[in-house]
Amino acid sequence: MNADIKNRIDQLREKLNHHNYLYYVLAQPEISDFEFDQLMKELISLETANPGFQDPNSPSQRVGSDLNNAFTQVNHTYPMLSLNNSYSLDEMQDFETRNKRLLDEDFEYVCELKYDGVSISILYEQGRLSRAVTRGDGEKGDDVTNNVRTIRSIPLVLKGDDYPERFEIRGEILLPREGFNNMNRQREEAGEPLFANPRNAASGTLKIQNSSVVAKRPLDCYVYALMGENLPYETHYETIQKAAGWGFKVSPYIKKCLNIGEVMDYVRHWETEKHTLPFDIDGMVVKINSFRQQGRLGLTAKSPRWAIAYKFKAEQAYTRLLSVDFQVGRTGAVTPVANLQPVKLAGTTVKRASLHNADQIALLDIRLNDYVYIEKGGEIIPKVVGVDKAKRDMFSVPLTYIENCPECGSGLIRDEGEAKHYCPNEDGCPPQIKGKLVHFVSRKAMDIGLAEATINQLNEKGLLNNIADFYALEKEQLLELERFAEKSADNLIKSIAESKMVPFHRVLFGLGIRYVGETVAKTLALEFGSLNALKSASLEELLAVDEIGERIAESIQDYFSREKNRQLIERLEKAGLQLEAAIPKTTGNALAGKSLIISGVFSKYSREEIKALIEQNGGKNVSSISTKTDYLVAGENIGPAKLKKAQDLNISILNEDEFLNLIGS
Ligand code: IVH
Repeated sequence: MNADIKNRIDQLREKLNHHNYLYYVLAQPEISDFEFDQLMKELISLETANPGFQDPNSPSQRVGSDLNNAFTQVNHTYPMLSLNNSYSLDEMQDFETRNKRLLDEDFEYVCELKYDGVSISILYEQGRLSRAVTRGDGEKGDDVTNNVRTIRSIPLVLKGDDYPERFEIRGEILLPREGFNNMNRQREEAGEPLFANPRNAASGTLKIQNSSVVAKRPLDCYVYALMGENLPYETHYETIQKAAGWGFKVSPYIKKCLNIGEVMDYVRHWETEKHTLPFDIDGMVVKINSFRQQGRLGLTAKSPRWAIAYKFKAEQAYTRLLSVDFQVGRTGAVTPVANLQPVKLAGTTVKRASLHNADQIALLDIRLNDYVYIEKGGEIIPKVVGVDKAKRDMFSVPLTYIENCPECGSGLIRDEGEAKHYCPNEDGCPPQIKGKLVHFVSRKAMDIGLAEATINQLNEKGLLNNIADFYALEKEQLLELERFAEKSADNLIKSIAESKMVPFHRVLFGLGIRYVGETVAKTLALEFGSLNALKSASLEELLAVDEIGERIAESIQDYFSREKNRQLIERLEKAGLQLEAAIPKTTGNALAGKSLIISGVFSKYSREEIKALIEQNGGKNVSSISTKTDYLVAGENIGPAKLKKAQDLNISILNEDEFLNLIGS
């Protein structure tokens, strides 16, 4: 019995490790998230029921733990050296000349990307991850094993059987730009301070003491070196290919070069193409391929003689500050924006840059007509990173922050602990009114097909002052406006009518409550189930929800305490919007005796709701495709392998709408 359980646990761990590898290392998933989750659930329940079989390298441990980690200091067995930097192709030529002189025989180079993240050294013993240590001062670093175990592209147990018994692998932990931007967007919505760039975000994340928080951040890791006693490999290139075989993520852009000319081509290529990568690099690394030759060249105190980094120049531009605008967003938050003398930066002409808030202005001590340095970080809008004080006009005075809203004149407020100033005139400040309307119709909220210019026009005609007014619009009113003809008026009325079916969590997001972004709205919808329940939730009840802090809870209470908002919600309810996260109640026999598998992400219903619908209509949810499966209900982002398998087995594939039609919903 026990042996059976252990066998199943081993089998599940192996499967989960394999699918994790397919997804996070190769980016070629073969099963859906749903199926992955089912396997994981089974594993967790077996492990919970049989604590004797717990293992820190089980894939179930990737979610981390809430227990506080204390990072102990560990001495590196092999010091973590740095690289000599070069900033020009001339210096690369010097590197070549020295190698030729010192080696006096043929040699090869290996070129790699220089990942802009944080370095890590991970010890593997008998094919299992046993410890991960940060670089620290190069001699000793922090033991961050629990956090590193949550990074999906780092194997917990190695594949194959040709790995050394004990070795350290070194690599770079980084945060791809997309994940970084999402993270900052969520932080902005939650009113938290933003990370300056992906590297800071990665290094900050690695030092979080609660590994379950780390597990939620999309960290990635590329490896670039192996250390150990008597390793049986002759070249760096071969070693990296071996590591890939054991399940590590290595860059597909590693290249063997036979002479410095090829190296220079590689460097020039990436200097212009680096923006096409999903993560930041700050240069290239060029290494001598043969370990024997590396040994002959040796090390200096801080860095090896057999490698060199070619660093890209930081993409900065130098220009003049002409004036500062203060922009008011839909929530009333004020953002100072610098108007600059137009200047070229990373392929585009920049005229404006963000100054973030009053603290940032004070920190930079930026003044009108100053010459400034601007940089493109992870964000789209560049930022001012420095001021050339030597060139400052001697009569310049510090910038004073505005006290009144530039749009409506109301006195601005700045709550304690807040970085931003706000205009409190929610219902009378034009950009706030318009901003809320634009937000309400946006794709991720009500998805009403309406351009900003049309919203402005309707607003100016007095037809649209708040979000409930959308549902009072009539075709005749539209036809009187310039832009509308019969067809466009019909389309808009239809699109507004269709928005009444948009699920509750998107309506909640659409209300535009400060700090209630997309993710928070989903969490609240799931937790409280209806707008009424949310409206009457106490501060304590709100705070009891995971990921809802004081700032969000107070903002929600503040929103519902306003009479105007209560009236608005009443009108939305009368119009028939979805103010409850009801699982749709279509029941029937349309799917009697049928087996269905769902995969991907759906737009009208959550996965759980679709599964409930299948059961309510007599169908059976299955977790893997076989000849016995009748339908594949395919959402967005479904893996190509899954789709192909369904096609090969001649299984009917339905999209979300076809599925809903089938059950008559
Ligand atoms: S090799 C002995 N390869 O750059 C040198 N380093 O300044 C071992 N880095 O701390 C480093 N990408 O974190 C190497 N492809 C790459 C790299 C890389 C980024 C970082 C690494 C190191 C720093 C050296």
